[in-house]
Amino acid sequence: MKKRVLSGMRPTGRLHVGHYFGALKKWVELQEECDCYYMSSDWHALTTNYVDTSKINENTLEMIADWITAGINPHKVIIFRQSKVPQHTELFLILSMITPLSWLQRCSTYKEQIKEIKNKDFNNYGFLGYPVLMAADILLYKANIVPVGCDQLSHLELTREIARRFNNLYGNVFIEPKEELSKEAKVPGLDRRKMSKSYDNSIFLGESDDILREKVKNMFTDPLKIRKNDPGHPDDCVVFAFYKIFDKDYINRRENCKAGLIGCIMCKKQITEILSEFMNPLAIKRKDIISDKAHLEKFIENGSQKAQEIAQKTILEIRYALKF
Ligand code: TRP
Repeated sequence: MKKRVLSGMRPTGRLHVGHYFGALKKWVELQEECDCYYMSSDWHALTTNYVDTSKINENTLEMIADWITAGINPHKVIIFRQSKVPQHTELFLILSMITPLSWLQRCSTYKEQIKEIKNKDFNNYGFLGYPVLMAADILLYKANIVPVGCDQLSHLELTREIARRFNNLYGNVFIEPKEELSKEAKVPGLDRRKMSKSYDNSIFLGESDDILREKVKNMFTDPLKIRKNDPGHPDDCVVFAFYKIFDKDYINRRENCKAGLIGCIMCKKQITEILSEFMNPLAIKRKDIISDKAHLEKFIENGSQKAQEIAQKTILEIRYALKF
């Protein structure tokens, strides 16, 4: 039996290279040997964007176009939309009955976001319950493997705790999923913070040459390297972080930079070329995919149908266990 994989992303629009190396590349690898379910978690998008919902449909299409651009094969995996599979909300309700408030209140992501993000009001019931909905997503498909970034580990731990609690109370229905972390290097944003759309420091998949050039120009470099011959500190430089990801020969570059043998202008010029070589084929593929929205919608529709069939089987088992 093939292992079952489930993962999701919130539809926040176009994806950047951080998403690619942090998650998508792993998703693409897994589709070869596992039964994969990849979901646009649009209800999750609502927990933080409930005020303006106008972009969620469009963002879903943009995001799924990026998945396919990155190599997800819609004929091999099931691509679906969380809100098109009503079983997610049913299981969310059931799990929320057995999840102690204290488990959610002590969740690290919850505590951090409440503290960090001041420009939005997150103090609602749905936001506290975010990990319960995520547990429902995973447990509904009895997924063995969940590819996620490190930031989601606490949610996965919680998913296992909820599964255990349900199984203890009502009998063995769920299996405990394991995470699968991407081992790729972290991609920093142009300004050296984490690459994130909300920081406006991202390079998007299929970015055009003009924009790439402009963005590389603005990349943060070693502030102590002012002249070409000054010795550099490549491990504090965003440009070098990109070499580490995109260029097999990065070790030589590190030495040359440290020895003051190469200047930042040349370094930026060369990384622009490397990035452009990576992006150009993606840009062409993406344009083609996004031009046929009806076709994309069809993949999502079909995928959501198939997801429903699996989800409904689990719901029947759950209702039976609950004696409903
Ligand atoms: N919470 C995840 C994120 O923000 C997205 C997500 C929703 C997810 N449901 C999921 C990931 C289920 C893995 C499995 O990245």
